[in-house]
Amino acid sequence: MPSRPVTLSHRASLTKDQPISWFMQQAVENPDLISLAAGLVDVESLPGDDIAKVAQAILSDPASAKAALQYGTTPGYAPLREKIVARLNELDHRSPGEAYLADDVVVTTGSQQLLYLLGELLLDPGDIVLVEAPSYFVFHGVLASLGVRALQIPMDDDGMIVDDLEDRLRQLERTGELPKVKMIYTVDYFQNPTGLTLSLPRRAQLVEVARRWSKHHRILILEDAAYRELRYEGGDLPSIMSFDESREQVLLAMTFSKPMAPGLKTGYGILPNGIAAALARFKGNHDFGSSNLNQHILDRLIANGAYDRHVANLQDVYRNKRDAMLHALKTEFPAVTGTTWTYPKGGLYVWWKAPEGMETGPNSPLMRECLKQGILYVPGEFAYVEDGPFPRNEARLSFGVEQPERIREGIERLAHAAREVGLPRIQMPRVAGCRG
Ligand SMILES: Cc1ncc(COP(=O)(O)O)c(C=O)c1O
Repeated sequence: MPSRPVTLSHRASLTKDQPISWFMQQAVENPDLISLAAGLVDVESLPGDDIAKVAQAILSDPASAKAALQYGTTPGYAPLREKIVARLNELDHRSPGEAYLADDVVVTTGSQQLLYLLGELLLDPGDIVLVEAPSYFVFHGVLASLGVRALQIPMDDDGMIVDDLEDRLRQLERTGELPKVKMIYTVDYFQNPTGLTLSLPRRAQLVEVARRWSKHHRILILEDAAYRELRYEGGDLPSIMSFDESREQVLLAMTFSKPMAPGLKTGYGILPNGIAAALARFKGNHDFGSSNLNQHILDRLIANGAYDRHVANLQDVYRNKRDAMLHALKTEFPAVTGTTWTYPKGGLYVWWKAPEGMETGPNSPLMRECLKQGILYVPGEFAYVEDGPFPRNEARLSFGVEQPERIREGIERLAHAAREVGLPRIQMPRVAGCRG
């Protein structure tokens, strides 16, 4: 009998390959390529010894080995959930009366699973989610496969422009689409892809606007704080969630991937009452709980202080890499070239803007020249959705994975490629001892 074609589900047919996959593959297959594209973390500092020690301690004791190797509970290992809220209560300066509760925590297989599950739990085809312009493109893929429309809100140096968000809500009300708006998604600390952070006044304003515009139903804020702990200068900012006195407007998504190790693939959500329980029911269908062993490992890493030590070390490692990138950009792209970039106080990314008219897309002359020079970036257009015109001359540069010397070399190659495709050639003054 001839083989019959498989009919994929409607949702699968809406699920496209992530455009970033090709870039990731290039970096893995070609070690000579300097990848400022990959969103991977620094490999040298991955805490193998710390993890080996606690894994050994767990597995060498019969009682703890049995507990960690058995199935866990769907919302996650209770002592870990307690520690997660204890840390957050401290970070957000919560008084005992305002404390977040372990019952509101659901541990997930990375925060990516949380983003996906929240989408499935709360969104229907045709719904609208308001996101930053630009924003985290992997989440756009999630929304697309759910049949949900993403509309983008402009950003400035203080993050999402909340006045523009309100203008958009007003416009959607006029067109009768306000009831479709279900969620506002923001990566509010050192955003992927721009490195920008939502300012303190805008955090309070965002909660107030979401609340006031919840005319038909609750408009939820999904606060993706994946990079919060990777801060290299200045003081920590309280979460958006901490401004939500009602405790019903904000869903907070966090992860151990960036501050610890992505290989543990463990994230978590702090969710309004009712949503946490509904999410756990839903997660029951997916996997009835994320890796129990990994949760036991993380619990011990927090308890014995290795987690805090590792985060402090990462802050030094990444500050050094960020500074190498910013310094190289300043050297290679003098102001007269018309090139600009963001100054991230944390995270893994710098957002680079080529002069107007110099496209950065996957088929652009700049990308072709960069591939020839052995340097890779993420085209900025990947971080926009089809919601009106968007810039074609931007790029995400990651300083996460390469070592400082290769970052400097990568920026030199980028500048060389940009000059080959039309960036003004500036005669730099020669200073004794400097590279010519
Ligand atoms: C903004 C943001 N959110 C979520 C994630 C998902 O990370 P994980 O699933 O490893 O926690 C990432 C990963 O790069 C990210 O950049």
